[in-house]
Amino acid sequence: MPLHRTKHPSAGESDIFSGHAMRVTVPKRRIPASGMPSDVAFQIVNDELMLDGNARQNLATFCQTWFDDHIHKLMDVSIDKNMIDKDEYPATASLEDRCVHMIADLWSSPAAGSTVGCSTTGSSEAAMLAGLALKWNWRRRKQLKNGVAEKPNLVTGPVQVCWHKFARYFDVELRELPVDADHLGLTPQTVLAAIDENTIGVVATMGVTFTCQYEPVAAIAAALDETEQKTGLDVPLHVDAASGGFLAPFLHPELVWDFRLPRVRSINASGHKFGLAPLGVGWVVWRRSEDLPEDLVFRVNYLGGNMPTFALNFSRPGGQIACQYYLMLRLGHEGYRNLHEGSYAVARHLAKELEKIGPFRLLFDGDSRNGIPAVSWTLRAPDAAGYSLFDLSERLRARGWQVAAYTMVPNLQDTVVMRVLVRHGFSRDLADALLDDVCRALESLETHPVVRKMEAQFAPMYTHG
Ligand SMILES: Cc1ncc(COP(=O)(O)O)c(C=O)c1O
Repeated sequence: MPLHRTKHPSAGESDIFSGHAMRVTVPKRRIPASGMPSDVAFQIVNDELMLDGNARQNLATFCQTWFDDHIHKLMDVSIDKNMIDKDEYPATASLEDRCVHMIADLWSSPAAGSTVGCSTTGSSEAAMLAGLALKWNWRRRKQLKNGVAEKPNLVTGPVQVCWHKFARYFDVELRELPVDADHLGLTPQTVLAAIDENTIGVVATMGVTFTCQYEPVAAIAAALDETEQKTGLDVPLHVDAASGGFLAPFLHPELVWDFRLPRVRSINASGHKFGLAPLGVGWVVWRRSEDLPEDLVFRVNYLGGNMPTFALNFSRPGGQIACQYYLMLRLGHEGYRNLHEGSYAVARHLAKELEKIGPFRLLFDGDSRNGIPAVSWTLRAPDAAGYSLFDLSERLRARGWQVAAYTMVPNLQDTVVMRVLVRHGFSRDLADALLDDVCRALESLETHPVVRKMEAQFAPMYTHG
């Protein structure tokens, strides 16, 4: 009979969970007087992160949650690169420069090789920068006409919260035009009725956050052109293409929404959404360099060079930009088209099957000509149902799915919408698993109607992007 002798008599004691740090509450409000071994600290933090839920099952976010190994490696090698130190990290700066011009070209800039643009932390910062340029240009137009610069306004449809922030932080009146059940976004008529000589610009969205649809950019541009011809009022158009900017050009190059329309002066998009880059990168590009007022540009020279910058932040990580360039090289037009076509196919399947279940009325069915790879729907008979979409969202959460349920924009506040974003990595098989769970949750809610339907203010998730 073999004799088993252990070489490590104290192996049990070296288990990470047997140490003192795991038997006491970890510090949460004060930095501890002394530290702990790195593997123990790592385990504690890693375990906390585990409780976040599974990002791949987060169908509420527009942001990427699946990355190949090369992206992980590029993020790792870029961990110490600061985007602002363009003189110290000229190679990273050059990747950013290449991305700007590639994206300007993707959006049909008439001067893609020489126009200006920059990376940002996301579409929100990009929106602030584009909005500031609109405000500065409007003031210059007023000064040229010897006009008094009164309170500026910005005309939009139902916009993401970043535009509300821009308006509040930079003292601009936000004219967010009401929508109705038949027109869930801007129309040329509503835009024309809202603009005046203090309008710094109109924002049209390619992929409205609430319903996922594209707004009719070309029709709005034509209406603004006609107004200028008739009245001389020159109102620029900015396109918030946070999602659509990396979708429409690959899938429907014939769809004219970008710099092919002379009225479009600037465009933003999130690299970390359908640009497929990791979290933390957005882009904003101006039609021509003249569209970005020179006095918004800071020249930073204390780091050894003389670099023009336009940003709200100073220090910023560079890895996301390296990954964006990698993705553009790796995928090319063909690769982006293929991947996105796959997501749209899953979205269409999901829409078809959700409609068959019965209680849902589709608002958007994932048609790539009209919007982003997503599905949004409401209840056909919300009053008669023994549950709300917030209740359904909570049931799905129990299976790990995070599906957004939210009330619509102000004058459609009674309409509760549910939305699923189909991103790279959400396969047909996962969609079928979700559909099974939706059916199971509905069965349970129909057999056991809730005593009091959950409303927006008590819902676990209220997300607009
Ligand atoms: C239309 C639109 N604009 C702006 C944003 C803000 O983008 P980010 O999260 O990149 O700051 C979003 C986010 O969902 C959006 O959908």
